[in-house]
Amino acid sequence: YDYDLLVIGSANADLVIGVDRRPGPGETVLGSDLAVHPGGKGANQAVAAARLGARAALLARVGDDAHGRLLLDAQRAAGVDTVGVLVGGAPTGVALITVDPDGDNSIVVSPGANGRLTPGDIRAAGSLFHASRVVSAQLEIPLETVVEAVRSLAPGTRFVLNPSPPRPLPPEVLAACDPLIVNEHEAKAVLGDAQAGDRPADWARALLARGPRSVVVTLGAQGALVATARGVDQVPAVRVDAVDTTGAGDAFTAALAWRLGQGDALVDAAAYASRVGAVAVTKAGAQEAYPTREEVAAL
Ligand code: RIB
Ligand code: NA
Repeated sequence: YDYDLLVIGSANADLVIGVDRRPGPGETVLGSDLAVHPGGKGANQAVAAARLGARAALLARVGDDAHGRLLLDAQRAAGVDTVGVLVGGAPTGVALITVDPDGDNSIVVSPGANGRLTPGDIRAAGSLFHASRVVSAQLEIPLETVVEAVRSLAPGTRFVLNPSPPRPLPPEVLAACDPLIVNEHEAKAVLGDAQAGDRPADWARALLARGPRSVVVTLGAQGALVATARGVDQVPAVRVDAVDTTGAGDAFTAALAWRLGQGDALVDAAAYASRVGAVAVTKAGAQEAYPTREEVAAL
């Protein structure tokens, strides 16, 4: 394989303002100076994997504008192969992000060019799929594009999905996931109205029953759960002081996907990914906060 990880997904310019608290309807609050960071769940995953030492490639679309150049520069600086990054068709995606004093964020995304990444773009990049050990995706691009990605998987290539932002998933996509990676909010959204019980282990089992070969439920400060046909395992949390949680989930997913491709068992890959996510929340921004392999080892 030429690539340890092929990421299919979004690239956004993150426009970040720190706030004491978020405004309610009709309200104005003053915040910090504006910070502009390279972000987007797909671009974040590719950078996170590359910083850990993975040979990573990104399949995405950005606009022919300054934000697009910021994103391409960040990918190349991290060592990501950008041969699959298409340019033009709409403005680069933007995420408007507020971060509160606890490090928690709220995000509104304008997909822009991400919304123009088409199934045809996926078919045109078929050779990347055959060259990749693991493929990962999220849902800031059209669902039909993710479906086409699933159909493009080479035999033996593992597929990892973080359904964020969440929406109901077709059985064909669910069946390809190994694992499906969700937080609490995403777990409930994917399960929909179905009675899934109150406990995270119940959600994990209910999600597994929808068809994925494995499921990972991330629980923030409570760690994570790993569910396979053999049962549910707990992965302990790594305690750190959160500064900015933006993109920590993307780092978790990328690290897990990379470790799986390196032959780790799912529970070991999830434990490693927890450490990567923990480092990511201790610094501002998404991609700029991602650790190298050495930084993870030092934690
Ligand atoms: O997961 C974090 C990311 O979500 C941010 O970088 C932002 O771009 C949004 O896509
Ligand atoms: Na961060």
